[in-house]
Amino acid sequence: MNLESLDKEYILHSYARNYTNFVKGDGAKLYSEDGKEYIDFGSGIGVCSVGHGNKELADAICDQASKLIHVSNLWVIEPQVKLAQKIVELSGFDMRLFFANSGAEANEGALKIARKYGQINFENKRYKVITLEHSFHGRTITTVKATGQEKMHTPNFSPYPDGFMHVKSIDDVYKSIDEKTVAVMIELVQGEGGVEPFKKEEIQKLAKFLKEQGLLLIVDEVQTGVYRSGEFLASNYYEIKPDIITLAKGLGGGLPIGAVMTSLKDIFSPGDHGSTFGGNYLSTRGALTVLDILQKEYNSGAIKKNIEAFNSNLEKIAASFTQFFEKSVGLGLMRGLRCKSGEIQNKIVSKAFEKGLIVLKAGRNTVRFLPPITISQDEIEDGFKRLELALMELKD
Ligand SMILES: Cc1ncc(COP(=O)(O)O)c(C=O)c1O
Repeated sequence: MNLESLDKEYILHSYARNYTNFVKGDGAKLYSEDGKEYIDFGSGIGVCSVGHGNKELADAICDQASKLIHVSNLWVIEPQVKLAQKIVELSGFDMRLFFANSGAEANEGALKIARKYGQINFENKRYKVITLEHSFHGRTITTVKATGQEKMHTPNFSPYPDGFMHVKSIDDVYKSIDEKTVAVMIELVQGEGGVEPFKKEEIQKLAKFLKEQGLLLIVDEVQTGVYRSGEFLASNYYEIKPDIITLAKGLGGGLPIGAVMTSLKDIFSPGDHGSTFGGNYLSTRGALTVLDILQKEYNSGAIKKNIEAFNSNLEKIAASFTQFFEKSVGLGLMRGLRCKSGEIQNKIVSKAFEKGLIVLKAGRNTVRFLPPITISQDEIEDGFKRLELALMELKD
């Protein structure tokens, strides 16, 4: 049986898969089994923040794997502690962290923190969390329910947990707070929901209001975090101090890791939360290396340069192909082209792939770009040439 047949035989069919078999990567380039080269403007859905085949990351993983991979959270784990310290220092926030293995798990941790806060701080035991339309917070039963996209709440997986309310806009948050509300959970740039950033003033006003009310602001930075916005956290870019922040995706450069950080430093007691794999030697040593690499790129101005180059290419494309696009959207190296229809979006993603360029789909008919943060200027130029070729062909 070939790989496609084996996959269809043995893997549950929860993904609409493309059967290209990638065998090697180098920076923002991927190579398939048949020797074709692709520029990867998706980086594994915002995960491979330091690119593919990164030598420094690979060396750190190999070194750690040959010493210790896992001992469990019953013992202190040196790279875990160092990683937490590094994240706190880079964020500038006075917080403590819990390490998990994915974005959804990080968000589960955030929701547990919010619920415990509601239990111990309010006589009427507040527990409700408000989230926004078009949001995406994960695929566990609870984070699916937190996700504000109606299509995700299929009866197939019901009943869902209580305690979530979805509203259309930030303005609607204010009217929807009731005597049971304990927190508001948002992405600062809605990724899956169409790479849609919120306005800075709107977010700052909300953060200030919630603080005055003693309610929590949870910022889901699973996609926006770790320099994706151009700053270490999008919360830094928005100049807010959330109570709880979640991270995953780009943090491990491909290693599975998630984290929840909070200024409620004493919220958990032993037994409140846990994870067998969360924060083990391998993932935290890898994440420490990823942060070292990205911190250097940030300090040298390379990330800023990449954002400028990426965005100016994107603006040119948006202006040259107005028959396909309504506008360009996004922030930092989290960008999108809002298409005039879902059909156009699908055609562009397929045609770009044919031309050797990987781009992603997001909600609201958006073609999405999440390149490695360390992408080179040449790779940016090359990728946009391929996109232009694809669009020229679609135009004809
Ligand atoms: C904002 C946001 N939150 C949570 C998640 C879920 O992360 P994971 O797939 O690692 O569970 C995602 C994944 O796309 C995301 O973009």
